[in-house]
Amino acid sequence: MIYLDCPATTPCDPRVLDAMLPFFSAAAANPHNRHHAPGRAAAAAIEQARRQVASLIAARPAEIIFTSGATEANNLALKGIARAWAGRGRHIVTVATEHASVLEPLAALAREGWTVTILPVDGGGRVDPDHVAQALRSDTILVSVMAVNNETGVIQPLAEIGALCRARGILFHSDAAQAAGRLPIDVGASKIDLLSLSAHKLYGPPGVGALYVRQCASNDPVPLLDGGGQERGLRPGTLPTPLCVGFGQACALVVTEAEQAGIARLGERLWQGLRRRVPGLRRNGNPAYCVAGTLSLTFPGLDATDLMADLPDLALSTGAACQAESGAPSSVLSALGLDAPAAQATLRFGLGRFTTEMEIDRAVAMIGRALAKPEP
Ligand SMILES: Cc1ncc(COP(=O)(O)O)c(C=O)c1O
Repeated sequence: MIYLDCPATTPCDPRVLDAMLPFFSAAAANPHNRHHAPGRAAAAAIEQARRQVASLIAARPAEIIFTSGATEANNLALKGIARAWAGRGRHIVTVATEHASVLEPLAALAREGWTVTILPVDGGGRVDPDHVAQALRSDTILVSVMAVNNETGVIQPLAEIGALCRARGILFHSDAAQAAGRLPIDVGASKIDLLSLSAHKLYGPPGVGALYVRQCASNDPVPLLDGGGQERGLRPGTLPTPLCVGFGQACALVVTEAEQAGIARLGERLWQGLRRRVPGLRRNGNPAYCVAGTLSLTFPGLDATDLMADLPDLALSTGAACQAESGAPSSVLSALGLDAPAAQATLRFGLGRFTTEMEIDRAVAMIGRALAKPEP
């Protein structure tokens, strides 16, 4: 099996798994119980993980709130800030190509009376910071723009958008689930107030993520849950020590530049190999602004689901895994201007840390054979 679905989830790095294992058994303890040594050791391991996560995005450890993943972090940021800042305004700005875990909480807020402006992207998948600036109003409280798109790999201009939000006293949130570990992130330099992360997108375990909340009293979201007051009361519930430790270790293992250079080379090999075999093959998203290893490719005249069925040894996706079950054409590809047949002829290839050159060559050959197969 050749796994090319890294934007959906990355395999856990064996070094991450090794760091986690003791906390499931021999070192298991509730990290919130400081009355015994194992509890204190678990708490210390979590604080170490918090430092590792913070360091990846150039934040302070106290600014990291552990969550169950990026979906929860996005919900906490958007609903929590909307509720905390409701007295100042009820207008939020976002972008059409955001993940469902941003668009759906915003749709819920719109049903409750907030106004949400959804900005378009250009044909290459980028939002224009001038459009963001024009959308801001006196009652705008929050702008949410993802760092990297999960279907196309397109990188958004965060620093420009962050600067214009900060200048107007508007909070800036970014869903960085697909960016962490693949791009350097500096929350201070990009003037980001809230940032969502997910461990299972960067070779960590599924079921844990974090929300970065810039240390400034007025940035705190209203919590989604009530409970025991953990995570400064912003996200109550017993912290899952093994998952937090794995997340921290995954962040510590990130070597962005060297790793991305290798993945970029393999991505180019895949693209060139397929281009030679598939007339009219198109790449979606401006490659000048794409992270290495995420390639959204349209095979004109083909049905991507049928093609995948002919490729049983290749783990691929037609788009976002979460939309795959609905059967609806991808809203991300529609926002880039693709019509329904083109969207349905599109496959997403997601390479990662463990992808090899041999796998790429075999994948290209498999696709070539599947396309050459006579129609039934
Ligand atoms: C851009 C983006 N945001 C959010 C999520 C949700 O992350 P999680 O699975 O950690 O809830 C994903 C993953 O599906 C994603 O790609």
